[in-house]
Amino acid sequence: MSRRKKLYEGKAKVIYEGPEPGTLVAHFKDDATAFNNCKHDVLEGKGVLNNRISEYLMTQLGEIGIPTHFIRRLNMREQLIREVEIIPLEMVCRNIAAGTICKRLGLEEGTRLPRPVIEYFYKNDELGDPLVAEEHIAAFNWAGPQELEDMVSMTLRVNDFLSGLFAAAQIRLVDFKLEFGRQYEGDMVRIILADEISPDSCRLWDMQSGKILDKDRFRQDLGGVTDSYAEVARRLGIMKDQPNLTVIRNGDGG
Ligand code: TMP
Ligand code: ASP
Repeated sequence: MSRRKKLYEGKAKVIYEGPEPGTLVAHFKDDATAFNNCKHDVLEGKGVLNNRISEYLMTQLGEIGIPTHFIRRLNMREQLIREVEIIPLEMVCRNIAAGTICKRLGLEEGTRLPRPVIEYFYKNDELGDPLVAEEHIAAFNWAGPQELEDMVSMTLRVNDFLSGLFAAAQIRLVDFKLEFGRQYEGDMVRIILADEISPDSCRLWDMQSGKILDKDRFRQDLGGVTDSYAEVARRLGIMKDQPNLTVIRNGDGG
Protein backbone atom coordinates (compact mmCIF):
# COMPACT_ATOMS: atom_id res chain seq x y z
CA MET A 1 0.00 0.00 0.00
CA SER A 2 2.78 2.40 0.95
CA ARG A 3 4.37 1.91 -2.48
CA ARG A 4 1.27 3.33 -4.12
CA LYS A 5 1.01 7.02 -4.79
CA LYS A 6 -1.56 8.77 -2.62
CA LEU A 7 -3.54 11.22 -4.71
CA TYR A 8 -6.07 12.55 -2.24
CA GLU A 9 -7.11 12.07 1.36
CA GLY A 10 -10.67 12.86 2.31
CA LYS A 11 -12.51 12.57 5.62
CA ALA A 12 -13.46 8.91 5.23
CA LYS A 13 -11.38 7.66 2.28
CA VAL A 14 -7.93 7.81 0.77
CA ILE A 15 -7.57 7.69 -3.01
CA TYR A 16 -4.47 6.04 -4.47
CA GLU A 17 -3.23 5.73 -8.02
CA GLY A 18 -4.69 2.59 -9.64
CA PRO A 19 -2.81 -0.28 -11.30
CA GLU A 20 -3.85 0.81 -14.81
CA PRO A 21 -4.47 4.21 -16.41
CA GLY A 22 -8.00 5.41 -15.76
CA THR A 23 -8.28 3.49 -12.49
CA LEU A 24 -7.91 4.46 -8.85
CA VAL A 25 -7.94 2.61 -5.55
CA ALA A 26 -10.34 3.83 -2.85
CA HIS A 27 -9.27 2.94 0.70
CA PHE A 28 -12.06 3.17 3.30
CA LYS A 29 -10.85 4.54 6.63
CA ASP A 30 -12.40 4.08 10.05
CA ASP A 31 -12.58 7.84 10.59
CA ALA A 32 -15.99 9.34 11.17
CA THR A 33 -16.58 13.07 10.94
CA ALA A 34 -19.66 15.21 11.19
CA PHE A 35 -20.63 18.87 11.06
CA ASN A 36 -17.86 19.59 8.59
CA ASN A 37 -15.13 17.95 10.62
CA CYS A 38 -16.04 19.60 13.98
CA LYS A 39 -16.76 16.14 15.38
CA HIS A 40 -14.27 13.36 14.72
CA ASP A 41 -13.74 9.82 15.95
CA VAL A 42 -12.24 6.55 14.81
CA LEU A 43 -14.81 3.74 14.70
CA GLU A 44 -13.09 0.39 14.41
CA GLY A 45 -14.46 -1.61 11.51
CA LYS A 46 -16.49 1.18 9.87
CA GLY A 47 -14.24 1.29 6.78
CA VAL A 48 -14.57 -2.45 6.22
CA LEU A 49 -18.36 -2.28 6.50
CA ASN A 50 -18.72 0.72 4.19
CA ASN A 51 -16.41 -0.89 1.61
CA ARG A 52 -18.63 -3.99 1.56
CA ILE A 53 -21.97 -2.18 1.67
CA SER A 54 -20.95 0.26 -1.06
CA GLU A 55 -19.61 -2.62 -3.19
CA TYR A 56 -22.94 -4.41 -2.85
CA LEU A 57 -25.13 -1.39 -3.60
CA MET A 58 -23.01 -0.16 -6.54
CA THR A 59 -22.99 -3.68 -8.01
CA GLN A 60 -26.77 -3.98 -7.72
CA LEU A 61 -27.18 -0.55 -9.35
CA GLY A 62 -24.81 -1.58 -12.14
CA GLU A 63 -27.03 -4.55 -12.80
CA ILE A 64 -30.05 -2.32 -13.47
CA GLY A 65 -28.00 -0.23 -15.88
CA ILE A 66 -26.80 2.68 -13.73
CA PRO A 67 -23.19 3.37 -14.76
CA THR A 68 -20.93 3.50 -11.68
CA HIS A 69 -17.24 3.97 -10.96
CA PHE A 70 -17.06 0.63 -9.13
CA ILE A 71 -14.91 -2.06 -10.78
CA ARG A 72 -14.20 -4.60 -8.04
CA ARG A 73 -13.38 -4.94 -4.39
CA LEU A 74 -9.69 -5.60 -3.82
CA ASN A 75 -9.65 -6.45 -0.12
CA MET A 76 -11.37 -5.67 3.19
CA ARG A 77 -10.81 -1.92 2.93
CA GLU A 78 -10.15 -1.23 -0.73
CA GLN A 79 -11.91 -1.17 -4.04
CA LEU A 80 -10.77 -0.55 -7.59
CA ILE A 81 -12.71 2.29 -9.21
CA ARG A 82 -12.78 4.22 -12.48
CA GLU A 83 -11.08 7.59 -12.44
CA VAL A 84 -13.56 10.42 -12.90
CA GLU A 85 -13.62 14.18 -12.69
CA ILE A 86 -15.86 14.72 -9.70
CA ILE A 87 -18.74 17.14 -10.25
CA PRO A 88 -18.68 19.48 -7.23
CA LEU A 89 -22.27 18.75 -6.20
CA GLU A 90 -23.85 16.55 -3.56
CA MET A 91 -27.18 15.32 -4.88
CA VAL A 92 -29.39 14.69 -1.84
CA CYS A 93 -32.63 12.80 -2.38
CA ARG A 94 -35.23 12.78 0.40
CA ASN A 95 -38.30 10.61 0.90
CA ILE A 96 -38.98 11.47 4.55
CA ALA A 97 -38.16 14.73 6.31
CA ALA A 98 -35.05 14.46 8.50
CA GLY A 99 -31.89 16.46 9.08
CA THR A 100 -31.38 19.89 7.59
CA ILE A 101 -34.66 20.06 5.64
CA CYS A 102 -36.58 19.96 8.94
CA LYS A 103 -34.87 23.08 10.27
CA ARG A 104 -34.87 24.82 6.92
CA LEU A 105 -38.57 24.35 6.16
CA GLY A 106 -40.00 23.77 9.65
CA LEU A 107 -40.99 20.17 8.93
CA GLU A 108 -41.48 17.58 11.63
CA GLU A 109 -38.90 14.79 11.47
CA GLY A 110 -40.45 11.64 10.06
CA THR A 111 -43.01 13.40 7.83
CA ARG A 112 -43.34 11.60 4.51
CA LEU A 113 -42.68 14.07 1.70
CA PRO A 114 -45.36 14.32 -1.02
CA ARG A 115 -42.77 13.08 -3.54
CA PRO A 116 -39.01 12.49 -3.55
CA VAL A 117 -37.25 15.84 -3.19
CA ILE A 118 -33.80 16.39 -4.72
CA GLU A 119 -31.57 19.11 -3.29
CA TYR A 120 -28.16 20.24 -4.54
CA PHE A 121 -25.28 21.12 -2.23
CA TYR A 122 -22.08 22.70 -3.48
CA LYS A 123 -19.10 20.57 -2.40
CA ASN A 124 -16.91 23.06 -0.59
CA ASP A 125 -15.68 22.32 2.92
CA GLU A 126 -14.67 25.93 3.62
CA LEU A 127 -18.24 27.02 2.98
CA GLY A 128 -19.75 24.00 4.76
CA ASP A 129 -21.33 22.53 1.58
CA PRO A 130 -24.07 25.15 1.07
CA LEU A 131 -27.45 24.41 -0.51
CA VAL A 132 -27.52 25.81 -4.05
CA ALA A 133 -30.12 26.26 -6.78
CA GLU A 134 -30.07 25.06 -10.39
CA GLU A 135 -29.38 28.67 -11.32
CA HIS A 136 -26.03 28.59 -9.47
CA ILE A 137 -25.09 25.28 -11.09
CA ALA A 138 -25.74 26.75 -14.54
CA ALA A 139 -24.21 30.19 -13.89
CA PHE A 140 -20.99 28.82 -12.41
CA ASN A 141 -20.93 25.91 -14.86
CA TRP A 142 -20.50 23.24 -12.16
CA ALA A 143 -22.52 20.96 -14.46
CA GLY A 144 -24.05 21.44 -17.90
CA PRO A 145 -27.87 21.27 -18.37
CA GLN A 146 -27.69 17.77 -19.89
CA GLU A 147 -25.33 16.60 -17.15
CA LEU A 148 -27.69 17.88 -14.46
CA GLU A 149 -30.65 16.20 -16.17
CA ASP A 150 -28.71 12.91 -16.28
CA MET A 151 -27.78 13.23 -12.59
CA VAL A 152 -31.37 13.97 -11.56
CA SER A 153 -32.82 11.07 -13.53
CA MET A 154 -30.15 8.66 -12.22
CA THR A 155 -30.73 9.88 -8.65
CA LEU A 156 -34.48 9.17 -8.97
CA ARG A 157 -33.80 5.71 -10.39
CA VAL A 158 -31.35 5.00 -7.59
CA ASN A 159 -33.98 6.17 -5.10
CA ASP A 160 -36.68 3.86 -6.48
CA PHE A 161 -34.36 0.89 -6.66
CA LEU A 162 -32.69 1.34 -3.28
CA SER A 163 -36.00 2.13 -1.53
CA GLY A 164 -37.23 -1.30 -2.64
CA LEU A 165 -33.97 -3.05 -1.86
CA PHE A 166 -33.87 -1.64 1.69
CA ALA A 167 -37.61 -2.20 2.22
CA ALA A 168 -37.04 -5.90 1.55
CA ALA A 169 -34.60 -5.77 4.48
CA GLN A 170 -37.19 -3.97 6.65
CA ILE A 171 -35.24 -0.72 6.37
CA ARG A 172 -36.70 2.64 5.35
CA LEU A 173 -34.53 4.72 3.02
CA VAL A 174 -35.19 8.15 4.51
CA ASP A 175 -32.68 10.09 2.42
CA PHE A 176 -29.25 9.73 0.83
CA LYS A 177 -26.47 11.64 -0.88
CA LEU A 178 -24.92 10.79 -4.24
CA GLU A 179 -21.93 12.15 -6.09
CA PHE A 180 -21.29 11.87 -9.81
CA GLY A 181 -18.25 12.30 -12.02
CA ARG A 182 -17.27 12.68 -15.65
CA GLN A 183 -15.59 9.67 -17.19
CA TYR A 184 -13.49 10.48 -20.24
CA GLU A 185 -13.04 7.76 -22.85
CA GLY A 186 -11.37 9.06 -25.99
CA ASP A 187 -13.61 11.88 -27.27
CA MET A 188 -16.51 10.59 -25.20
CA VAL A 189 -17.52 11.87 -21.80
CA ARG A 190 -20.28 10.38 -19.69
CA ILE A 191 -21.67 10.93 -16.24
CA ILE A 192 -21.29 8.01 -13.86
CA LEU A 193 -22.15 7.44 -10.22
CA ALA A 194 -19.09 7.88 -7.99
CA ASP A 195 -18.03 8.10 -4.33
CA GLU A 196 -19.83 5.64 -2.02
CA ILE A 197 -23.29 4.61 -0.89
CA SER A 198 -23.18 3.49 2.72
CA PRO A 199 -24.74 4.23 6.12
CA ASP A 200 -22.37 7.24 6.16
CA SER A 201 -24.25 8.79 3.24
CA CYS A 202 -27.82 7.56 3.82
CA ARG A 203 -30.44 7.82 6.55
CA LEU A 204 -31.73 4.34 7.27
CA TRP A 205 -34.46 3.60 9.82
CA ASP A 206 -35.73 0.23 10.94
CA MET A 207 -39.23 -0.09 9.48
CA GLN A 208 -40.84 -1.44 12.64
CA SER A 209 -39.10 0.31 15.51
CA GLY A 210 -37.77 3.40 13.72
CA LYS A 211 -34.32 2.63 15.14
CA ILE A 212 -31.62 4.71 13.46
CA LEU A 213 -29.12 2.50 11.60
CA ASP A 214 -26.92 5.17 10.00
CA LYS A 215 -24.38 7.90 10.71
CA ASP A 216 -26.94 9.90 12.73
CA ARG A 217 -25.99 7.47 15.55
CA PHE A 218 -22.57 9.14 15.47
CA ARG A 219 -23.86 12.69 14.83
CA GLN A 220 -26.29 12.42 17.76
CA ASP A 221 -24.00 10.41 20.09
CA LEU A 222 -26.39 7.46 20.19
CA GLY A 223 -23.62 4.83 20.35
CA GLY A 224 -23.50 1.46 18.60
CA VAL A 225 -22.52 3.01 15.27
CA THR A 226 -20.58 0.12 13.73
CA ASP A 227 -22.99 -2.43 15.21
CA SER A 228 -25.79 -0.68 13.31
CA TYR A 229 -23.76 -0.64 10.08
CA ALA A 230 -23.11 -4.37 10.58
CA GLU A 231 -26.86 -4.87 11.11
CA VAL A 232 -27.52 -3.16 7.76
CA ALA A 233 -24.94 -5.41 6.07
CA ARG A 234 -26.42 -8.50 7.71
CA ARG A 235 -29.97 -7.62 6.67
CA LEU A 236 -28.84 -7.00 3.09
CA GLY A 237 -27.44 -10.51 3.12
CA ILE A 238 -23.80 -9.48 2.78
CA MET A 239 -20.99 -10.54 5.13
CA LYS A 240 -22.72 -13.85 5.75
CA ASP A 241 -19.24 -15.32 6.03
CA GLN A 242 -18.44 -13.01 8.95
CA PRO A 243 -21.02 -13.58 11.66
CA ASN A 244 -19.28 -11.42 14.23
CA LEU A 245 -17.47 -8.12 14.23
CA THR A 246 -14.11 -9.50 15.37
CA VAL A 247 -13.00 -10.24 11.82
CA ILE A 248 -14.22 -6.87 10.62
CA ARG A 249 -12.55 -4.96 13.44
CA ASN A 250 -9.25 -6.67 12.82
CA GLY A 251 -9.54 -6.35 9.05
CA ASP A 252 -6.67 -4.19 7.92
CA GLY A 253 -6.63 -4.72 4.21
CA GLY A 254 -5.71 -8.39 3.90
P1 TMP B 1 -28.72 16.62 5.69
O1 TMP B 1 -30.09 16.38 6.23
O2 TMP B 1 -27.67 16.85 6.75
O3 TMP B 1 -28.71 17.72 4.65
O4 TMP B 1 -28.25 15.28 4.96
C1 TMP B 1 -28.97 14.70 3.91
C2 TMP B 1 -28.37 13.37 3.53
O5 TMP B 1 -27.08 13.53 2.98
C3 TMP B 1 -28.21 12.40 4.68
O6 TMP B 1 -28.53 11.10 4.22
C4 TMP B 1 -26.75 12.45 5.04
C5 TMP B 1 -26.11 12.78 3.72
N1 TMP B 1 -24.93 13.61 3.86
C6 TMP B 1 -23.70 13.16 3.42
O7 TMP B 1 -23.58 12.04 2.91
N2 TMP B 1 -22.63 13.97 3.56
C7 TMP B 1 -22.69 15.21 4.10
O8 TMP B 1 -21.68 15.91 4.18
C8 TMP B 1 -23.98 15.66 4.58
C9 TMP B 1 -24.13 17.03 5.20
C10 TMP B 1 -25.06 14.84 4.42
N1 ASP C 1 -19.52 14.35 6.23
C1 ASP C 1 -19.64 15.69 6.75
C2 ASP C 1 -18.48 16.00 7.70
O1 ASP C 1 -17.57 15.29 7.84
C3 ASP C 1 -20.96 16.01 7.38
C4 ASP C 1 -21.87 14.93 7.85
O2 ASP C 1 -21.92 13.84 7.31
O3 ASP C 1 -22.63 15.20 8.80
O4 ASP C 1 -18.44 16.99 8.37
